[in-house]
Amino acid sequence: MATMLAPETGFSYRTSPTAYLAFEEWLRANPDRRPVHTHPWDVSRSDIYVNDTWGPIFAQMRAQAPVNKVVGTPYGDYWNVTTHKSVLHVESLPELFSSSWKYGGITIGDPPATISPEELAERQLPMFIAMDRPEHTGQRRTVAPAFTPAEMVRMEAEIRMRTRQVLDAVPRGERFDWVDKVSIELTTGMLAILFGFPWQDRRLLTFWSDWAGDVELILADELAEQRFVILQEMAHYFSRLWMERMGAEPSPDLISMMIHSPAMNHMSPQEFMGNLILLIVGGNDTTRNTMSGIVHALDRFPDQRTILENDPSFIPNAVQECIRFVTPLSHMRRTATADTELFGQDIRAGDKVIMWYLSANRDETVFDNPDKLIVTRENARRHLSFGHGIHRCVGARLAELQLRVLLEEMHERRMRVRVDGTVERVRANFVHGFRRLDVVVDRF
Ligand code: HEM
Repeated sequence: MATMLAPETGFSYRTSPTAYLAFEEWLRANPDRRPVHTHPWDVSRSDIYVNDTWGPIFAQMRAQAPVNKVVGTPYGDYWNVTTHKSVLHVESLPELFSSSWKYGGITIGDPPATISPEELAERQLPMFIAMDRPEHTGQRRTVAPAFTPAEMVRMEAEIRMRTRQVLDAVPRGERFDWVDKVSIELTTGMLAILFGFPWQDRRLLTFWSDWAGDVELILADELAEQRFVILQEMAHYFSRLWMERMGAEPSPDLISMMIHSPAMNHMSPQEFMGNLILLIVGGNDTTRNTMSGIVHALDRFPDQRTILENDPSFIPNAVQECIRFVTPLSHMRRTATADTELFGQDIRAGDKVIMWYLSANRDETVFDNPDKLIVTRENARRHLSFGHGIHRCVGARLAELQLRVLLEEMHERRMRVRVDGTVERVRANFVHGFRRLDVVVDRF
């Protein structure tokens, strides 16, 4: 969908490194400020996600102390909540366990202590993922109609067309990076189509969501500031896009639909912007990393790949199982609003409570043989990758649709994707996924 929007040059996204490279560079320049994690259960350390060694640590916690406190970490003190049951419990009590940015928001990192509450309030773009009731309810209600089953049916044709284009363009029998050529191309392309985001700028969505999702950056004051500037620029870009659409005739893209929807009329421009960014950026790296994770997982469990190759009717269940297995967001954070007891532990008002979806999805009391991908798993849908309760992912159906179409179109083309070459994971404790995944595509 073409648009007249031409972004200004001179924006730092034109010259800034990716979030990942910026942090690497900062670590090299400041070796003495490298975050130090000494507690064996301090799972805020990102090396365990880059090296994929987190599994046994969480298994030990689930067995010995499902809810436990670690103190003195680079992210301060926090509670680990690690089992399926305990995560569900916390998600089910949103008054007691707050998502609000006023208490620190939804990730393990707190805003830098140098920022005053007034400045924080000024800087904060209102997003309903980081709000409590009643504000959350009203705002979620205005965007939810964009994700109904009927809307998904409407979007499917376009999603399928884009998926076909991307898959038809990848080389056969020669090595390439699946993250770059498929996962990023597909997610940014689809968001660009669905939201009418300028096509030529679609890779900015990846750049921004990486800066937004890399929680570790806030451990370095300089980078926290750079992150803020970049996210401000993103807001500026979206606000120009919004103004442009305001003055135009209604069109079938979601931004135009949101602008012209009566439900949206009462939102302030700030709220509108915050929620638009939440939708576009929130749906980006999560879906991207699942698209990479699916290929990686099917390669690791070739018996499961064979099941899907022989019987594509398992694809919808495989989508659920892959989302469980990959768990694209490792955690969400809550903050206790009152003293309480949680599975025998005394939690104090103000305590930081981290729900580790990664661990809940490997809970052996719910999922048999949880470390194996089993595409026929009967209770795969019980995964907690989308969260639970009032904040459960509003875009879940859209993500599932994109992933199902991807698997169906791969099957249609008889594509067997083998991992071959470099596999690099994201170094972060929030976003869980792949930076690079070299593959070769053959036929089955
Ligand atoms: C919320 C995961 C795709 C938009 C969430 C939450 C999780 C999540 C864990 C928070 C739940 C909580 O706090 O309890 C995922 C995963 C995805 C995905 C794993 C892909 C596999 C998407 C897509 C969109 C989206 C495609 C939109 C285009 C949102 C929004 C919220 C949210 C707006 C806030 C909901 C609320 O606070 O009420 N997502 N998401 N997500 N997600 Fe997703």
